[in-house]
Order: sequence, then structure tokens, then C-alpha cells
Amino acid sequence: MNITPIHEEFGVLISGIDLAQNLDEQTFAQIDDAINRYSLVLFENQQMNDAAHLAFTRRFGELEEEHVSYYSRGEVTYIGRVGNIDDAGNKVSQRQIKASTGNEMWHSDSSFREIPAMYSILAAYEVPAEAGETEFASARAAYQRLDRQTREFIETKVGIHDYIYSRTKVGEDAVTENQRSYMHPVRQRLVRQNPLTGERNVFVGSHVKQIEGMPDAEARPLIKRLIAEVTRPQSVYRHRWQAGDMMIWDNRCVLHRGCGYDAEKYRRRMHQTRVRGHGPSIAEVLR
Ligand code: SIN
Repeated sequence: MNITPIHEEFGVLISGIDLAQNLDEQTFAQIDDAINRYSLVLFENQQMNDAAHLAFTRRFGELEEEHVSYYSRGEVTYIGRVGNIDDAGNKVSQRQIKASTGNEMWHSDSSFREIPAMYSILAAYEVPAEAGETEFASARAAYQRLDRQTREFIETKVGIHDYIYSRTKVGEDAVTENQRSYMHPVRQRLVRQNPLTGERNVFVGSHVKQIEGMPDAEARPLIKRLIAEVTRPQSVYRHRWQAGDMMIWDNRCVLHRGCGYDAEKYRRRMHQTRVRGHGPSIAEVLR
């Protein structure tokens, strides 16, 4: 296995691995260790399929249900469709395409759930000939850049994450009635810590609506400032997808966003799984 950095602050390419094979314990442990250390891990030229994708994901822990099917229709599925192609290989509706543009705001997957996702694992099958990149940025590197006063101020603060708040920014029809009924705001710490490495990071993104105990007039600029710190241009890794790419990111400490593409002209078919987190971030004890 070769590990090569893809950005100076975070992220590596791991080569010499076929993820569709049943990896031995040592190889798997090296991959998990790389995710904990580097937050973003890319594999190229993979021959993936849903069964292999699910089997690989299960090795990290419990699968998280795909939230759109779950909260809209009560269906439990573990493969999320990213892009504009449905299960039958056809283009999805305009409403679905519009709703998915919510992913073009910086976010951490499932931060709107009481137990936010730990890892997301995205496999690219069909990609547009132009655009359709995904950008990533390290909230751990950003925490290191914060001044001491800000770090102390946010240490025990709690953000309120709300899917309905963030998704309706792209349009009132971007969420269904069931989503409005079942997806309630949740509390997440503004500072999290990796349990293995002890490194801290800020935990923000598009789903953060408020900060507990702060008036919105003060909380909004702080949320904006923290997101801007994480995603300053020189700290962003922009990934140009190739079919066969498989990317794993650590949602506890990485923000990401889709960059948009011409969904009328191109097909984009990517499948995503998520590994459930170990518990509510609010219960994490900072050392
Ligand atoms: C995502 O937000 O998980 C997917 C981003 C993308 O469409 O590139």
C-alpha cells in the first residue's frame, strides 16, 4: 500500500489496494488509521459494485440509513444516490435535482442527526465531462489557525443543526411534508475531538442554524466566520472525479460541498454509504 498526500493540510491517495476484495485485518486497520490521521482518503481505478461497497462500509461499523428515502417515505436503504441518475438508470426529476443543490453549501453529512455520520464513502460510476467536482476542507486545520480567545469561547458552545433550515435555503419545495414532520433540530458541540489522535476541530456547516445561548445577531456572524476559516481558498482540496474513484471522508472533521454541473447535459452517477457515528457529539468529553 502506498500513501501519498493530495493536499498540504489533509487528504491522501492510497494506491495498490483493490477495495472489492476482502481486505485482511492489517490492511483494513491501515486504511482506518489513515482516515483518522488524514481525514480524506482517495482510491483510484476501483471495480466497485453496491455489494462490495456495503461489505467494505460494514467493516468500519454500523451502516447509516440514507436519509432522503428514510425521512420522506420510511424506506430503509443504505446506498444513497448522488447525482442525477435513479436506480433504473434514468435521469431523476427536476425537484430532486434542485433539492440536491443543497449539497453545494459547505456541510458535514448527517450533522442534522442526533448521532451524526462518522464516515461517508462515495464511489464514482459516471461523471460529467466538465465540472461536477467535490470540494473538501479540514476543520481540524482550521481549529489550529484560530486564536486562543476564539478557541476558549467556542470550547463548550453548542450549535443547533437543522436540515429543514438548510434545505429550504434552496427552495421551500426542497423538503417534503414528512421531512418537515420528522426531521427536528439537534444539538452538536462546536468543538469535537478525535478519540484516537486527540486532535480537536470546529464542527460547523450549512445545517447550523443557531448557537445555544447566543442571540442570532451574534451567532450568525460567528458561524459564518468559522465556516469561512475552514474553507478559505488555499485550504480547499477540489476533487475532479474519474469513474472508478472511491473517496472516504471523516465527517467529524471535514466539510465538503458539490460544485455543480450541467445536469441537463451530463450524467452523474455516484453511490454513497455512510458509517454511523459512535454517539451524540454532545456527549463527547473533551480532554
Ligand atoms: C455530498 O454532499 O455528499 C455529495 C457532494 C457532491 O455531489 O459532490
